[in-house]
Amino acid sequence: MNIVVLGATGFIGSHLVGMLLDSGPYSRIVVVTRRDPRVLLEERPRWRDRVELVRWRPHRGEPLALPRGLLEEGYDLVNLAGERITGPWTRGKKRNIWESRVDLAKRLAESLGDTPPRLLVQAEGTGVYGDRGDEEVSEDTPPGRGFLARLTRAVEEALQPLGENGSRLVFARFGLVLGPGSPLLESLKPLFGLGLCPLLKGANWLPWVHVEDAVASLIYAAKKGLDGPLNIVSPNPVRMTEFFQKLCHGIGARLGVPIPGRLLSILGGEFAREALLASCKAVPKRLMEEGYVFKYPLLDQVEWKALLAEKQGGQGHV
Ligand SMILES: NC(=O)c1ccc[n+]([C@@H]2O[C@H](COP(=O)([O-])OP(=O)(O)OC[C@H]3O[C@@H](n4cnc5c(N)ncnc54)[C@H](OP(=O)(O)O)[C@@H]3O)[C@@H](O)[C@H]2O)c1
Repeated sequence: MNIVVLGATGFIGSHLVGMLLDSGPYSRIVVVTRRDPRVLLEERPRWRDRVELVRWRPHRGEPLALPRGLLEEGYDLVNLAGERITGPWTRGKKRNIWESRVDLAKRLAESLGDTPPRLLVQAEGTGVYGDRGDEEVSEDTPPGRGFLARLTRAVEEALQPLGENGSRLVFARFGLVLGPGSPLLESLKPLFGLGLCPLLKGANWLPWVHVEDAVASLIYAAKKGLDGPLNIVSPNPVRMTEFFQKLCHGIGARLGVPIPGRLLSILGGEFAREALLASCKAVPKRLMEEGYVFKYPLLDQVEWKALLAEKQGGQGHV
């Protein structure tokens, strides 16, 4: 079995490739990246013997050329690529977020139309559901309103031609992913270093998932033959206040600095309102129905200090 991963150099992708190298089930692993393959292999010695690198710079209009043997044998593809959504959402930032997902999905569909993957997993976020208050949000819940919902619908639409050509499409809707190298924790490290921790306050629900469960559920979905939307979140979402209380306590911060949701909304603008303050009580209905057993179902099981101790990008893992 062959697998192609885009965005493998990022946080989730690094952990995914690490898990694929550790335990399969794929014999051939191809990473598609915008970066210089020689530099990447120097940074990631574990990749040297087992990972094939293909350079693709879609923004330059290059077609994606996958290795020929792979196309003949068949392959699965996981697309984790895209500009980080962390704000502020200026016009330029939103354009980059949009182009790096929607335009990239269109280029994927054009390049792979004649040789579609058997399975295509597209990374999304629970932001697609919008602000849902206390409603329980499963894969049956329709998309909500806002930029993230529009973005996600446009990506899914762009990939439909591959679905019509025979690819099984999985839309992996991640909650906030926690693990070594997590963008949230990395961005807060300078504050943690001073013994400070932001205590974001809000009654909104915050779906989260440990990165080990996030990548294990992708592999589970591939093995089980699932398709369509898949919420990749722990079965126990928490409210934002509880999340940050546990985080600040877990890292042993000397001082928690309270930040009310209203202030966050003013400072963080549209990004904060959609990505942090929108309430989404997402549950992993399909994963549970399919028998996936979470290693970290509860936030209390997260070992915060261990997450901070490892190297950025989960490279300790890969
Ligand atoms: N982390 C989370 O908590 C979380 C939550 C919900 C959803 N997600 C989604 O899951 C996916 C993976 O998340 P992540 O945290 O692993 O992301 P990440 O660390 O930011 O990595 C994303 C990868 O995408 C590629 N990339 C970055 N900017 C790009 C651009 N402008 N155009 C094209 N490619 C670009 C890069 O790969 P190369 O340089 O190798 O090309 C990068 O390594 C993203 O779509 C993200 O929105 C993540």
